[in-house]
Amino acid sequence: MKKSWIYKQSYITVDQIKRKSQIKELFKKVDVMKKNVETHNVYEPLKGMTVAILFYQPSTRTFSSFEAAARRLGAYTIAIHGMTQYSSVAKGESLEDTIKSIHQTTGADAVVIRHPENNSSEVAASISNVPIINGGSGTKEHPTQALLDLYTIYNHHKKMDGLNVAMVGDLLYGRTIKSLAKVLTVTGRKNKFIFVSPKELMAPRKYVKDLSKKVKISETDNLSKVLPKADVVYMTRVQKEWFEKAGKLDEYERLKGKFILTRHMVNTMKKKAMIMHPLPRVGEIMYEVDDDKRAKYFPQMRSGLYVRMALLEAILKG
Ligand code: NCD
Repeated sequence: MKKSWIYKQSYITVDQIKRKSQIKELFKKVDVMKKNVETHNVYEPLKGMTVAILFYQPSTRTFSSFEAAARRLGAYTIAIHGMTQYSSVAKGESLEDTIKSIHQTTGADAVVIRHPENNSSEVAASISNVPIINGGSGTKEHPTQALLDLYTIYNHHKKMDGLNVAMVGDLLYGRTIKSLAKVLTVTGRKNKFIFVSPKELMAPRKYVKDLSKKVKISETDNLSKVLPKADVVYMTRVQKEWFEKAGKLDEYERLKGKFILTRHMVNTMKKKAMIMHPLPRVGEIMYEVDDDKRAKYFPQMRSGLYVRMALLEAILKG
């Protein structure tokens, strides 16, 4: 059988996805993984292989689903959550040396990394002998999240084009929307984006400029006006850690409660629309919304397991 386009490659950025066919190929695998998990079918193509998972930033979903994905496929995992606290990083070791060391000490066949620097995965890939998978880098990229988000959208709407997608919240520091919006320009020229944020948290100008060469983007700070038009409402949290780093916690306090999705607001949305959130939420979606049929942030998480299984298999086995 023909090998996957990502076989033996690192997955650093969604810019590696240039054609819809690449997504279709992966999603076929994702469907198989979903079925395997749902039927408790034992499928272990990565038996004998090792996946190292190195996280320099907090995580619940990405970390646990990568580990679950690797193990379900039969691989050994070396998963280190507290890289900044408990590894030699705390002694000042460079990312380059850490990557080289992990390769030596574990014999890993692939390394998943989450790191606060925008170019961390690129740096890691440039010195690594094995594929690097970006589990979130700085404020710039979260390419596996983009795939699971897209899979969730596709499952719900049965299409990836012609959608009105509202991205809401911290579009300046949030990395999930940046990767997802880029992927959605590949899957559909007729997708339209509405970026909803307070002025201070608007997406970077260069990013918007580049994206608007491909699809239509409008920007507003009025969420209520946008809700009745959207097919996808993608909420995000205001990213406290970056305000902290910039010494602007007062600004964070002022902006964090700007958009709070209530049941009353959700009732103005289209019946067929969907609400997404990469999570964690810190108040952007009221718990009262959770049992609305449009709330898809829990199935969205589950897609993460299937998508990461598919990606690991595609990279390691083809
Ligand atoms: C996101 C992240 O880390 O960028 N979380 C995730 O992976 N689901 C979103 C966030 O932290 O706000």
